[in-house]
Amino acid sequence: MKGVVFVELLAMAEDAFGEDVVDAVIDKADLAHGGAYTAVGNYPCAELVKIVDAFSDHSGLSPDLLQRKFGHWMMGFFAQHYPAFFENKSSSFEMLEAVDQEIHVEVLKLYPDAELPRFETDRTGEGQLQMVYSSPRPLVSFCHGLIEACVERFDETAEIAIEATPAQNNSTTFRIDITGR
Ligand code: HEM
Repeated sequence: MKGVVFVELLAMAEDAFGEDVVDAVIDKADLAHGGAYTAVGNYPCAELVKIVDAFSDHSGLSPDLLQRKFGHWMMGFFAQHYPAFFENKSSSFEMLEAVDQEIHVEVLKLYPDAELPRFETDRTGEGQLQMVYSSPRPLVSFCHGLIEACVERFDETAEIAIEATPAQNNSTTFRIDITGR
């Protein structure tokens, strides 16, 4: 997993809890890299999960909620640092449909060692998008947060239902229903 993800997770934690708390929580978490990450480095996803668990213990917020909040944070980061991906899109569905075949393809050119999920999208009705997320990493809630934040970024509202994809391991189906724009 790219170091930028770790750097931003700690930035979000600092923003929420303050630098001293972050230092203390990271010290206690007994991490292989001791909480020292560079944006261009690569670190095991298991370490990210460990950091989320440590902040969950500290805050009483569930790991899923923290992952989801982190999805919102990362969407803000992406919009600020990679605005070009957003500029030619006019809706959250256009953006979400572009992740697999356009955005993450470009990400892989920039960072050939990135570990990216796969997405299959389908418009299942007026204002409805089905998005099947496949990844061996336990980041469903992070993905949920990214999708929610994407909807907000395009000034839309939606209901998002999440279920396991039948007969497909490591796959989760998001059903996104636009309720307002
Ligand atoms: C709504 C849009 C997006 C969704 C739903 C999405 C989804 C995800 C998810 C769930 C992951 C975690 C890896 C995994 O689950 O296996 C990920 C990783 C990543 N995504 Fe996206 N993404 C979106 C947009 C973007 C954009 C705009 C960028 C811009 C550069 C981007 C760059 C990355 C990078 C750098 C990683 C980390 C790869 C690694 O750690 O090796 N994504 N994305």
